[in-house]
Amino acid sequence: REGLRTELLGRRIIASEALPSTNAEAKRFAASEEGTVVIAEVQTAGRGRMDRSWHSPRGGVWMSIILKPQIPPAQAFRVNIAAAVAVARALEGLYGLEVKIKWPNDLMVGGRKVSGILTEIGADMDRLDYAVVGIGINANLDPGDLAGGWKATSISSEIGRKVLRAELVRRVLEELEGASQEMEASSGRLQEEWSIRSETLGRRVRILARDGEFEGLAEALEADGSLAVRRDGGLLERVIAGDCVHLRPA
Ligand code: BTN
Repeated sequence: REGLRTELLGRRIIASEALPSTNAEAKRFAASEEGTVVIAEVQTAGRGRMDRSWHSPRGGVWMSIILKPQIPPAQAFRVNIAAAVAVARALEGLYGLEVKIKWPNDLMVGGRKVSGILTEIGADMDRLDYAVVGIGINANLDPGDLAGGWKATSISSEIGRKVLRAELVRRVLEELEGASQEMEASSGRLQEEWSIRSETLGRRVRILARDGEFEGLAEALEADGSLAVRRDGGLLERVIAGDCVHLRPA
């Protein structure tokens, strides 16, 4: 908490040496206070999007934040947008890195993934109960510790020195608090910033959807959080977050 300039996020911080997954742990507390942060030095069963596992060795930042935004469940993707923009702002502000967002919310430096976000929600029909925002950042990881080989990178390999993880956590929480307030007020500006930072828009992409594969041009982020892709035949498709997007060479 020391030096943390937030009102809400990090009021309560649950720090552990090792946990299976900070998201799973945070969900146990989700009924409790908004702003609770669960953080671990290592995760033994870290989880990524689409049921993938997430390699979480010592040196990274693995944390989950409980948010309770006043938005309809169908708008939950806005939490993702706020989180991606917040982490991008933090990495840029602290280390001067140029951070791009690969749809839906992978954070990329020089074309390689440096951070991933997994948001899980609890909701009934028309009310969002909670959102657990899981943020993984490859902070001080050697290339050998990175899962995903050449597709991944770490902050320490990008800037050539180790970073103070406490400072990074603090900055991410401050940025996330700001971005989630912006998101609740109106998501227009955030969505615009997301688009400017996007590595996906304007690029050719190959989509692996549940019902097949196709290529096209990524045109826009839609108001419902989907990605609009113009097929080569001219047809506009909406791609949802469960589908897999591959960027084609520029
Ligand atoms: C992805 O890119 O697939 C999302 C990765 C999210 C990883 C973080 S690390 C902290 C939190 N706990 C988890 O088990 N996953 C998220």
